[in-house]
Amino acid sequence: MGATITGVDMNNLTDVEFRLIREAIYTHQVVIVKGQEKLKPINQFEFVRRLDPEANPVHGFLTDDGKFNVVRGSKGVTLVGQGYISHNKHGGDGLTLQSGTHADLHVETLSAEELASGQSRFGAFHFDGVIYGSYPSRVTTLRCVQAPKGPDVTIRWDDGTGRTMTAKPGLTAFINGSQLYEMLTPEEKALADNSSWSPAPQPYVWTGTRKIRNCGLGMAPGGKTVPLDQLPAWTSDKVYRLPMVWVNPVTGAKCFQILPDVVEKLYVKSKPGAEERTVEDSDEIRLWLNDILDRICTPENILIPEYEEDDVVMFNNWGVLHSSIDFPKSYGTRIMHQCHIASSTVPVGPTAVV
Ligand SMILES: [Fe+2]
Repeated sequence: MGATITGVDMNNLTDVEFRLIREAIYTHQVVIVKGQEKLKPINQFEFVRRLDPEANPVHGFLTDDGKFNVVRGSKGVTLVGQGYISHNKHGGDGLTLQSGTHADLHVETLSAEELASGQSRFGAFHFDGVIYGSYPSRVTTLRCVQAPKGPDVTIRWDDGTGRTMTAKPGLTAFINGSQLYEMLTPEEKALADNSSWSPAPQPYVWTGTRKIRNCGLGMAPGGKTVPLDQLPAWTSDKVYRLPMVWVNPVTGAKCFQILPDVVEKLYVKSKPGAEERTVEDSDEIRLWLNDILDRICTPENILIPEYEEDDVVMFNNWGVLHSSIDFPKSYGTRIMHQCHIASSTVPVGPTAVV
């Protein structure tokens, strides 16, 4: 997983260059395109749109509630990050960006002193998309406009293993879903190939008071979901059933993809033609999924690629999970230009999903 691309101008991509970058994203899952200081935000948007020409050309989170800050003239590149924007590079000056931290999500949180000293956590490993009424975006692009400055952070698992990783501040962590698929037993692979899952309606409200494990991957026990009749208005036709395994459109690799915090039901089938069992018990889902996720949630399996200002990070959102990494506020502002577009199609599984 991971590759670096140099020597291209994303403002003027030829058809061949576009095809090669697309193939690199799917072959290497995460790529960094170096040196795009001249990239116009509109061309970041057009690049993502070109990856899925049939999609409604709107940023994948803007279908939600419009609370995101859109870069002027970009059609749908959003400003994400943390801290005050003091310059007018690409606009946004005077805004204060706020991103969620592990403290909003995790079952136990670091103290303010620990955070200030450079102790850190992953936030929540996820793929991008609103999910309800929207298919997961195919590719996400993140252009680093401003990186925080300071010593490396120490990311703690705080799960009793003593695991830690160090990283430059302000980066993004990745887990490879095809590697996770390959960690399944033959029986588990057959089951995953033939099974599917569905998120809850209004999933990010539904998840309620439940928390993510301190390592950032998988749900902790406890907490309560919001009853379906107390959610904001929803209709069942917008709750899409997703395969458990998504097939890479370029390499054909199979990728295990389930979003731990929003999965409400599993539709489990051990092989083609077998009877399907619906699992709705949240503890059963949590324990089964955590057992799988634990296989890959170790430092040697997590990629934290280094990038610099004006590099563009691109990743196969159907093939990896990613997470932000907290850093001390004293390190300054982090500004990223983020763009992804809700897919025009449901992720493709190895078997047809109803
Ligand atoms: Fe994300």
